Amino acid sequence: FQPQVLAGRRVLLTAGPTYEPIDPVRGITNLSSGKMGYAIARAAREAGAEVTLVSGPTALACPTGVARIDVRSATQMLDAVMARVDASDVFIGVAAVADWRVVSAAKGKLKKEDGLPKLDLEPNPDILATVARHAQSSGHKPYCVGFAAESDNLDAHAEAKRLRKGVPLLAGNLGPQTFGQDDNELALYDDRGITRLPRADKLMLARLLIRAIAERLQ
Ligand code: C5P
Repeated sequence: FQPQVLAGRRVLLTAGPTYEPIDPVRGITNLSSGKMGYAIARAAREAGAEVTLVSGPTALACPTGVARIDVRSATQMLDAVMARVDASDVFIGVAAVADWRVVSAAKGKLKKEDGLPKLDLEPNPDILATVARHAQSSGHKPYCVGFAAESDNLDAHAEAKRLRKGVPLLAGNLGPQTFGQDDNELALYDDRGITRLPRADKLMLARLLIRAIAERLQ
């Protein structure tokens, strides 16, 4: 049994990688397993929230009682999120959104015989920063939480990222070695400073994060 700290709240999350097509069979993606985001969706539901999980391609089962919306690309993820953002009290961006997409994906499968393809890339939208800007202009709703995986100097980079993206709370870890693992070690960054969570499995950390979010919603 988990304390119902998010009873009556609506939580929207992104999780997993995104997949940016090059042609009908090839694409750009990353090694996010979705485990952390799915654990947070489960923990939010256990805490009494109504949870919507906008998920890139993963092999994971949807947690019981959570509404999952499947997307592939970052633009699909952004559209699915923005359609629901005004009906949400909390937004948590956990997805590892691909940084770039191919400007125009080929309609047919590219043929090796035609030589090396020339891929024009363009940046994907920053979903978390877009939601945070929207929240700031509409009375700070939803409360926005971001994630950061940093390869070094976690505290400095995570706090800088929190300010750059305009979110009140950011969870950071040293990555990307946590991708696909069951354990993680998180620190929380907000105006109060740094809160270090113990090394634990992702579900335990998700429950601690949900408690930290609930405290800040009071
Ligand atoms: O910039 P970076 O990818 O390190 O930021 C990580 C945080 O921003 C995560 O919360 C991630 O879900 C979010 N993000 C996003 N859209 C992007 C890139 C990152 O929502 N295009």
